[in-house]
Amino acid sequence: MRTPFVVGNWKLNKTIADALALVTELKNQLGAVKGVAVGVAPVATALHSVAKRLEGSPIATCAQNCHWEASGAWTGELSAPLLADAGVTWVIVGHSERRQFFGDTNEGVGKKAKAVLAAGLGAIVCVGESLAERDGGNTLSVVDAQLAGGLAGVADHDAAKLAAKLVIAYEPVWAIGTGRTATPGQAQEVHAHIRKRLGERLGAAAADAIRIQYGGSVKASNAEALMSENDIDGALVGGASLEAADFIAIVKAARPS
Ligand code: 13P
Repeated sequence: MRTPFVVGNWKLNKTIADALALVTELKNQLGAVKGVAVGVAPVATALHSVAKRLEGSPIATCAQNCHWEASGAWTGELSAPLLADAGVTWVIVGHSERRQFFGDTNEGVGKKAKAVLAAGLGAIVCVGESLAERDGGNTLSVVDAQLAGGLAGVADHDAAKLAAKLVIAYEPVWAIGTGRTATPGQAQEVHAHIRKRLGERLGAAAADAIRIQYGGSVKASNAEALMSENDIDGALVGGASLEAADFIAIVKAARPS
């Protein structure tokens, strides 16, 4: 009953011209694909052009990050209302690369998610453990802390509203860009745990309706097995989202059977 959501996180890649070429192909080729929601997250400089090109298409334009304040003296930052102004409808917050290299904390991610929701946009809240944390047996406690922080500002407990605007992405850091995907079983175990925590925090109906994406070396060849797990509701795709054919194959693999 959850519509899978597949988002391509392009990270720091593609000029405006390259971004437009890719989304034009996606728009043309994914028009007839039913039962899957799709989004792309280009670099900030391409957001407005991409959103314009995607007008009239169900493909969502997503941002990769935002600041928690709406405006003010925050040199170099982008806010949720300004992203909305550019045509963005979803914002990724708490990606592990932001946590690792730009100092994003659980508390900061919570403030960002709150700002995104307050601007009327959807938030994709990323969680996931490092290899050392997994090897130390701390996967679930790390994910718990990230979830608690990331959802600290979520006040609305209306299940339908939450499901429309909140997505969790489980991205084990050791699987990102390494070619080493979590097995469907490893991912499902954490996804089921996240859903249990969502139930405690937001109620059973919301937990049932909120989509939990998997991210980390998702490819056309492994997408179907991952998506067939009960609690995996789509994917956050890095490298394989940069080529139309690869990304389209992943979107098709996420279609409910
Ligand atoms: P890769 O698909 O390149 O492993 O990246 C995953 C990711 O970080 C998506 O946000």
